[in-house]
Amino acid sequence: MTTPRIFGTPLSPSATRVMLLGSGELGKEVIISLQRLGVEVIAVDRYPNAPGHQVAHRAHVIDMTDGAALRALIAQEQPDLVIPEIEAIATDTLAELEAAGTITCIPTARATQLTMNREGIRRLAAEELGLATSPYRFASSLEELEQACAFVGFPCVVKPVMSSSGKGQSKLDSAADVKAAWDYAAAGGRVDAGRVIAEGFIDFDYEITLLTVRSRAADGTTQTGFCEPIGHKQVQGDYVESWQPHPMSALALARSRDIAEKVTSNLGGLGVFGVELFVKGDMVWFSEVSPRPHDTGMVTMATQVQSEFELHAKAVLGLPVNTALRAPGASAVIYGQLDAKGIAFEGVAEALTVPDTDIRLFGKPESFARRRMGVALATAGDVDTARERALLAASKVKPVGGA
Ligand SMILES: Nc1ncnc2c1ncn2[C@@H]1O[C@H](COP(=O)(O)OP(=O)(O)OP(=O)(O)O)[C@@H](O)[C@H]1O
Ligand SMILES: [Mg+2]
Repeated sequence: MTTPRIFGTPLSPSATRVMLLGSGELGKEVIISLQRLGVEVIAVDRYPNAPGHQVAHRAHVIDMTDGAALRALIAQEQPDLVIPEIEAIATDTLAELEAAGTITCIPTARATQLTMNREGIRRLAAEELGLATSPYRFASSLEELEQACAFVGFPCVVKPVMSSSGKGQSKLDSAADVKAAWDYAAAGGRVDAGRVIAEGFIDFDYEITLLTVRSRAADGTTQTGFCEPIGHKQVQGDYVESWQPHPMSALALARSRDIAEKVTSNLGGLGVFGVELFVKGDMVWFSEVSPRPHDTGMVTMATQVQSEFELHAKAVLGLPVNTALRAPGASAVIYGQLDAKGIAFEGVAEALTVPDTDIRLFGKPESFARRRMGVALATAGDVDTARERALLAASKVKPVGGA
């Protein structure tokens, strides 16, 4: 994408066409932002009526880990940009298509390849870029894992190299826990790669997501901008609450931005990155990075002049962005709480009586007890009040059985 993008009319030969690979709640919001700019959007997911399918010009259901299926759909739709929204994609196919000049992949095919596997991004961050990370070792057998855990020490965390949202991840206190962690990782990995990472446990004060935006400057160069740090709470590796701004020392913030600048400029391309960092005093460790908007960043729909989704849409189209904070705020996840299709929600009106709150219901066709079905958003004069408001609003929304 070297020439300035011309904006056309959707569903006509002049259209700018963007394909989302993955159309969950994050993709849905990116699509809405693209729609506002008159972009023609094609939403792809592995199941019908995914949240993003419901707001796109066209929807497709394919197995995105199937390289041939992905290639065929791209040939059919001829998108100007391909935006991966999830990790579980045939990224080698994206790399081949990018190398052949067939697609522009956001941010780059290489970034999607490196970040879908913990080994790729960890080796890049720690071994090539020299960033501080937890001590780590990789293992492909129980015996190797025993050695890996002994090397990094206890407590430690074991994760499948290919997994997200805490799946297959466990914390180990001693060598007695290694066998259970190996079995759990094998069951929870995205594809049974049979490979895990053992990481020394970082006893951090807090963790943040630093949303980092690579966008086109007026002179045609790429510039890096930062949103205010987002604090968050994770339960079983899944985010339940986030808030912005998270207070940090000037030194910790400067170090965080430095790490984020180094890793995102190496990954390249345009768009939003969610850089996950652990902080203790003035010390900062790199944890991982999403080359796309981050779930904890949903809070920006309430707090920022431009949400992370609008930032992503604008940045990938080569437009200027504004990362300014509008007001302190918070988000709280609304879980499905029940296993059922076509559920309904009671209490939405009550939730919205909480001052300065808003609600997003994602419209997922099927609910699971621990599936994220919506989010409550709140702003306030300070983050603590905003967190109380978001939690209160979320607690008032009650999933009930469908019709
Ligand atoms: N080495 C570590 N030391 C301390 N805590 C850790 C460590 N690794 C992970 N955690 C905790 O577990 C959470 C999830 O870990 P991580 O981000 O690596 O997994 P994930 O499955 O990719 O999660 P997600 O997809 O939700 O970002 C982290 O946000 C952090 O709270
Ligand atoms: Mg994470």
